[in-house]
Amino acid sequence: MTRKFLDNVYDHIGKGIETFYDDWADTYEAEVGENGYVTPARCARVLAAHMPDKAAPVLDFGCGTGLSGSALRAEGITDLHGMDLSAEMLAKARAKNLYQSLQQIAADAPLPFETGAYAAIAAIGVIGPGAAPLDLFDILLAKLAPGGLFVLSFNDHALEDPAYAAKVTSCAEAGSLRILEQEHGPHLPARNINSTVYLAEKL
Ligand SMILES: C[S@@+](CC[C@H](N)C(=O)[O-])C[C@H]1O[C@@H](n2cnc3c(N)ncnc32)[C@H](O)[C@@H]1O
Repeated sequence: MTRKFLDNVYDHIGKGIETFYDDWADTYEAEVGENGYVTPARCARVLAAHMPDKAAPVLDFGCGTGLSGSALRAEGITDLHGMDLSAEMLAKARAKNLYQSLQQIAADAPLPFETGAYAAIAAIGVIGPGAAPLDLFDILLAKLAPGGLFVLSFNDHALEDPAYAAKVTSCAEAGSLRILEQEHGPHLPARNINSTVYLAEKL
């Protein structure tokens, strides 16, 4: 029987994330696809609806194999750049020929771009148990210039911890972002997992 990474991913915390995704790269799309993975399309739709210029540069952070980039491209977003920890996931993304640039990054290194380099940053299926820590929210938000857009998702496993939703609302209350869209909906419908998609504007 094929190993199901989705059975383990949400318990897989902290160390070894890069290796975990390297090992998953070959079967990731088939596995999430058979579970109806719909969050990238939902995120792409809300971002595209609010982007004044869909030719502006967009960072697909934690781009994985490029499913999120494909969804962004399908909404007419063309200047796509991807970053990820996993070389194997990036190799799959590269083969799609969607991105203007793709870069492997290290989890503990400063992000390799200037503040304001991207009109929008997407973190689709990236922040939460089994992927990047919640601290990444502040790090990515800090890399947007005022007016920049931030689209992200938290799945139900993340939302079990109130700190995730509280992060977004506390930033809104503190005046560092404005929430433009917030929608709870399907994530992996075949597994009855939902996600909240947020679109925020950096203030
Ligand atoms: C569930 S996949 C989502 C991939 C893609 N965005 C999608 O929607 O299919 C999570 C991705 O985040 C990457 N990732 C996890 N932690 C990360 C971090 N701290 N920095 C960058 N990428 C990270 C993983 O390597 C993996 O490719």
